[in-house]
Amino acid sequence: MQKRDLVRIILGGQVARAVAAAGRAYAPANLALVKYWGKRDPELNLPVTGSLSVSLGPLGATTEITVHPETDSCTLNGNLLPVDRPFARRLSAYLDLFRTPGLPHFSVVTTNTVPVGAGLASSAAGFAALVVALDQLCGWGLPTRALSILARLGSGSACRSVVPGFVHWHEGRQPDGMDSFAEALPDRWPELRLGVLTVSAAEKLVSSRAGMEACMATAAFYPAWPVKARADLDLVRAALAGHDFAALGQVSESNALAMHAVMLTAWPPLLYWQPETIAAIHRVQALRRAGLAVYLTMDAGPNLVLLFTATTEAAVRAAFPAVQVVVPFPAAPSPGASE
Ligand code: PMV
Repeated sequence: MQKRDLVRIILGGQVARAVAAAGRAYAPANLALVKYWGKRDPELNLPVTGSLSVSLGPLGATTEITVHPETDSCTLNGNLLPVDRPFARRLSAYLDLFRTPGLPHFSVVTTNTVPVGAGLASSAAGFAALVVALDQLCGWGLPTRALSILARLGSGSACRSVVPGFVHWHEGRQPDGMDSFAEALPDRWPELRLGVLTVSAAEKLVSSRAGMEACMATAAFYPAWPVKARADLDLVRAALAGHDFAALGQVSESNALAMHAVMLTAWPPLLYWQPETIAAIHRVQALRRAGLAVYLTMDAGPNLVLLFTATTEAAVRAAFPAVQVVVPFPAAPSPGASE
C-alpha cells in the first residue's frame, strides 16, 4: 500500500479544499523514553515495535496554513525557504498526498520553539502541527487517531506529537497500519524535568531513516532489539502507573543505550557519539554513585537528554552548567494570575 492510498481511505475520497481562511495549530516536540528503531513498512512508516514518549509542553511548532495563489511556500521562523531546499521539497511532497496533482498550492508558516540543533527532533512537531492545521483549513474534523496516522506518514515519530503528555505509539499489526497510532496516556508528572545537553548542533551524517535501514539489514544485535523494546514498554508503563522515578529513569537510559549498542553492530558501524557524549555519560554515572537520581537518554545523535525531578534540578544545573531545562508538564497559570 502507498501513502496516497491510505490518505484516500482516511479522507473517504475527499481532497484538500479550503473551507476556512486559514488553519492554525500547535504541536509539541516529543522525546522517546522507549525508542522507535526500525520500520516494518518503510513506505507507511510502520514501526517494528511500539514506542513511548513524553511531549515537551511549550517546546514545539505553531503552524498556519492558507491557500497560496501560485506556488507552495514555506516560512520557518520568519525565513522564507527556497523551494529547492530539501525540507521545502519534503513538505510539498507531503502536501501532494492530500490534493489533486499540485492544486491547491499552500503557504505554510511555522514558528518553532524547539532550540535548533539541540537534537530534539523539530520535524515531528512540524508535521503534527501541519496536519492538524490542514484538517482545520479543510474542515475535515478528523479524530485524533486519524490525525496521528496522517502525521506518521510525514515522519514516524510525528504521530506522537499530535497529543500532549506521555504518549504510547501502538505497534499495530495490520498491513495498512490503521492500528498503529499514538494515544495519550492518563499519567502526569509535574515534577519531571528534562535537561538537554547539546554536544553538537551539526546535522548528523546518517539520518534516522538510513540508520534504521542499516541496522535492520546488517546489525548482528538487531534481532534482540524488538524483544528489549517491548519489555521496556511494559516496564515504563508500570513505572508511570507507580510514579516510580528510579524505574522510569533506569528503563529509559537502558533502552537508549541498547539502541546505540545495536547501532554499533551494524556494518559500517553506526557511532553517533562524540567524546563529549561519553564524558557526559560518565558524569551522570558518577552523580548517581554520589546519590543523585539523574538518568540519560539519547536519540540518533551525539546529544543527551537528562531525566531528573524538580528536587534535584539545582544539583543537575550545578553539575552541567550548559544544560537547558525543559518542564514537560508546566503548571497551568492560576486563575487571575497576572502576566
Ligand atoms: O521519526 P524519525 O524518522 O525521525 O525517527 C526517530 C528515531 C529516534 O528519534 C531515534 C527514536 C524515536 O522514537 O524518536
